[in-house]
Amino acid sequence: MRKNIVAGNWKMNNDLKATKTLVKQIKKSLKKTKLKNTRVIIAPTFTNLPSAVKRCKKSKIEVAAQNMHQATSGAFTGEISAEMLKSVGVKTVILGHSERRAYFGETDALLAEKVNAALAHKLEVIFCFGEELADRKANKEEAVVESQIKNALFHLEADAFKKIVLAYEPVWAIGTGETASPEQAQDMHAFIRKTLADKYGNGVADSVSILYGGSVKPANASEIFGKPDVDGGLIGGAALKAEDFHAIITAF
Ligand code: PGA
Repeated sequence: MRKNIVAGNWKMNNDLKATKTLVKQIKKSLKKTKLKNTRVIIAPTFTNLPSAVKRCKKSKIEVAAQNMHQATSGAFTGEISAEMLKSVGVKTVILGHSERRAYFGETDALLAEKVNAALAHKLEVIFCFGEELADRKANKEEAVVESQIKNALFHLEADAFKKIVLAYEPVWAIGTGETASPEQAQDMHAFIRKTLADKYGNGVADSVSILYGGSVKPANASEIFGKPDVDGGLIGGAALKAEDFHAIITAF
């Protein structure tokens, strides 16, 4: 059975002190919570990863990075490699977030390289993609999503593909307060799963967790997570408040 996942993408928020506080609050909130088939992941900023990893040891929380560079090492000023993430105990990395694509020029081709580098270092990948509002208005959302997945991931063998978690994040719903309706999310997730089945077969398609992201809140989480092809969420704003994050984790 594939896992449900609730992952908090903290983006460029929380200094070291605030990271320690939020980790402590989330840990406390989860103490008496039974997590049925659900993984909880937080993704603090690079500088606070070692602290978060240390504090989440022996807890129900896993720690992910928000990005990484595709090269192993070298003259890439300001960048962080997969090896560096591994060396501080990180096991998962988010790649392809729409903010990385929009503000840092990350393309499908570059993301394919990052995915390869992450998998080569045995990092699990949460791969983000999603259409923009103009794509949806032009009824091109499926074509856009399909090409993002194909271009960045379909060179992988089935075994490698199983190490990927997908996160469908319609750009128009990120940080806007506007959410895809549960039906829109389900329709797209079913389309994605069919795209995976066509390429890798039903076994792989059914085993891959597909998360929804974009203004998920305690008020809408259970309806969205209740859809059969939605296996959890990638949460931005609401992941910065322990109470809200906990409410989303327990929304299944
Ligand atoms: P949001 O962000 O929940 O604040 O919309 C989601 C994301 O960017 O992953």
